[in-house]
Amino acid sequence: MGDAPLTNHDSQIGRVLVERGLVTPQDIQAVREKQRRLLADNPQADPRQASLAAILVADGYITRRQLERVLTAKSDESGRHTLQTQQQIPGYQLLGKLGAGAMATVFKARQLSLDRIVAIKILPKKYTNNPEFIERFYGEGKAAAKLNHANIVAALDVGQVGDTHYFVMEYVEGRTLFDDITAGKKYDEREVLDIIIQVTRALNHAHKAGFIHRDVKPKNIMITDDGVVKLADMGLARAVSDREAAEAEQGKAFGTPYYIAPEQIRGELDVDYRADIYSLGATFYHLVTGKVPFDGPNPSAVMHKHLKAKLTPPDQINPNISSGICEIIEVCMAKDRDKRYASTDELLEDLESVARGEAPLQARRMFDLASLASLESTRDKKDPGETARLLLANRSMIQLLIWTAAAGWAFFLVAVVILAIKLG
Ligand SMILES: Nc1ncnc2c1ncn2[C@@H]1O[C@H](COP(=O)(O)OP(=O)(O)OP(=O)(O)O)[C@@H](O)[C@H]1O
Ligand SMILES: [Mg+2]
Repeated sequence: MGDAPLTNHDSQIGRVLVERGLVTPQDIQAVREKQRRLLADNPQADPRQASLAAILVADGYITRRQLERVLTAKSDESGRHTLQTQQQIPGYQLLGKLGAGAMATVFKARQLSLDRIVAIKILPKKYTNNPEFIERFYGEGKAAAKLNHANIVAALDVGQVGDTHYFVMEYVEGRTLFDDITAGKKYDEREVLDIIIQVTRALNHAHKAGFIHRDVKPKNIMITDDGVVKLADMGLARAVSDREAAEAEQGKAFGTPYYIAPEQIRGELDVDYRADIYSLGATFYHLVTGKVPFDGPNPSAVMHKHLKAKLTPPDQINPNISSGICEIIEVCMAKDRDKRYASTDELLEDLESVARGEAPLQARRMFDLASLASLESTRDKKDPGETARLLLANRSMIQLLIWTAAAGWAFFLVAVVILAIKLG
């Protein structure tokens, strides 16, 4: 695809926006393609409306105020562009965009009072008019700020400026697990276990404090350059149902509900910690096999499989995976949550056993219970045809026994008669 006819002005703005981290080079590329299409379809179009800046604002990549600040940016002596930064959020200086998900945009910022770098998630304005959500957003944010764990991205503050609501959190210098997966990184089993153990510790801490994450997935698992794993978005209330959030996820033409638990898909009201255990199992599966557990042409197909399809055992995809890991993943991903680990304590016990080269005893126990239960249920739920076949088989067996006994008696009597004749 050819490049859009960028004016000098357009390309300068694009460069400054990328430099400031407000947009990514991919964002600029997408907008340039749109600009090219607009101009090709309508050569008479007002060039101001088809300018890069106008499209960036119209399509929500940046706000008008951000654009205005960039337009007033001036080059300093070293030729670098600096912004005449006006603070958007009192107490914080925004430094650049870190990324954007389906629901919000995350910025790097300096917290002026403590002179430290933080990350700020800014919610789109459309959520402002949902008081029930805003209440939950503040409630959960404040509660999450009390969590304190090395493997959880710390929630620091929640607030509002104008009609914009924001969530301030610890800034993580590093990458997400999703970045690694999309870059094609291959993990060995030991590395995967280390990551999953750290996320399980994070969940264990949060679950004990009464939090359910509800959105455990590679995009929410960050890894620092020193290998410390941090679970992000803990305590971040969401404005939509789990199912809608999974469907709205960015990154593909369709939403990607690859890690969502069956009970979340069904919209059950009493979703509990075991939903996180399922999602962690699905993430674990992805890391060791290189494939998501269930895939399909659209979100409904993927969700249908979470509900109904049998999981292909991970070692069928990657035969090098140890049996212990397979067992753990299969227990985490049981469709019936009663057949999953009952808590992250149990899961952690198994993960640590496998890391030491021992068997996952809790998973084995669950397997034994499950196979006992399935034996019970087959005994209880025989279909009528099968019951009839069993009765017939039993009847033939009894007849055989009677005939054998009769033949035995006959043989005995003949033997007694012969013996009597000989003796007599
Ligand atoms: N605390 C943080 N420190 C540094 N970068 C962060 C932090 N939190 C989020 N990010 C970056 O911002 C990006 C967007 O995060 P966000 O939570 O909005 O969306 P997501 O989790 O990637 O996806 P989705 O909205 O689809 O669930 C992340 O992918 C990550 O690169
Ligand atoms: Mg996130």
